[in-house]
Amino acid sequence: MNKKNKQKKPSSSDKHKKADQYDSGNYNYLEYWDGRDYEHAAEELAIKRLLKGKHFKQAVDIGGGYGRLCILLEQYADKVTLAEPSKQQLEIAKVYLKDHPEISQKLMQADDLKFKKGTIDLITMIRVMHHLPDPSSEFAEVARALGETGTFILEIANYAHGRNRIKHMLKMQKMPTEPIDIRSPENKRDDEVAFVNHNPKTVIKQLAHAGLKVDRVLSVSNLRSPTLKKVVPQSIMLSAETFLQLALAKTYFGPSVFFLIKKAG
Ligand SMILES: C[S@@+](CC[C@H](N)C(=O)[O-])C[C@H]1O[C@@H](n2cnc3c(N)ncnc32)[C@H](O)[C@@H]1O
Repeated sequence: MNKKNKQKKPSSSDKHKKADQYDSGNYNYLEYWDGRDYEHAAEELAIKRLLKGKHFKQAVDIGGGYGRLCILLEQYADKVTLAEPSKQQLEIAKVYLKDHPEISQKLMQADDLKFKKGTIDLITMIRVMHHLPDPSSEFAEVARALGETGTFILEIANYAHGRNRIKHMLKMQKMPTEPIDIRSPENKRDDEVAFVNHNPKTVIKQLAHAGLKVDRVLSVSNLRSPTLKKVVPQSIMLSAETFLQLALAKTYFGPSVFFLIKKAG
């Protein structure tokens, strides 16, 4: 082979495209949560429900941002690691988690977890699937790091939620099975961060392909609506949410779906 045609051996950085989108000044993820107390509480409710009565040695929150949910995970694990690919988010985490020095913070992305095979017994990945149009390498990596009896909690932004299903039905359109890019046309640029919503049935198949099976489903943030949030007191919203998470789980009604996942036997 002459020098010109010689192929460059892929380095590990080529193989894992850097997931550092949240380093851009365009994202202020801490501010994003202003006015979203209902959604935050609904997600905590879902995690508490899925982890009730369980305790773990080593929990890892993949793509955990500034650590919004790591504080809750401390109740369920001896050791919690915030695994996050954005340096900016980790900088914010230093302040946000200052009273939680036991939570370790690691620069890491989902398709390249720096943990030994089978060493983690709880993995959470919440609000990260938005950025993973094809999560196959990330699911394979989770399956590798997870212990045989480990638990994986995955949240997906659900394209097949109730309102979308009605819209598709009225237009006599089939619900797509592939991830749907939800950016407005003016915000779509090739170099932009992927922003997709998923069909839960497709995600279940992708998980199965990685040797992971869904044990429980919750429909979450069922009452996400700016108007409802304005007029209904949060305590009532959350009482209803508590009931609806289970009642609507089978229909994947909510804009967010939580899966409790195990390794397939
Ligand atoms: C919407 S934020 C969610 C943060 C946190 N999980 C939460 O719910 O508050 C998405 C996070 O996913 C991270 N992320 C994006 N791509 C990722 C990847 N390939 N692997 C791991 N994390 C990723 C981003 O850096 C960002 O912190």
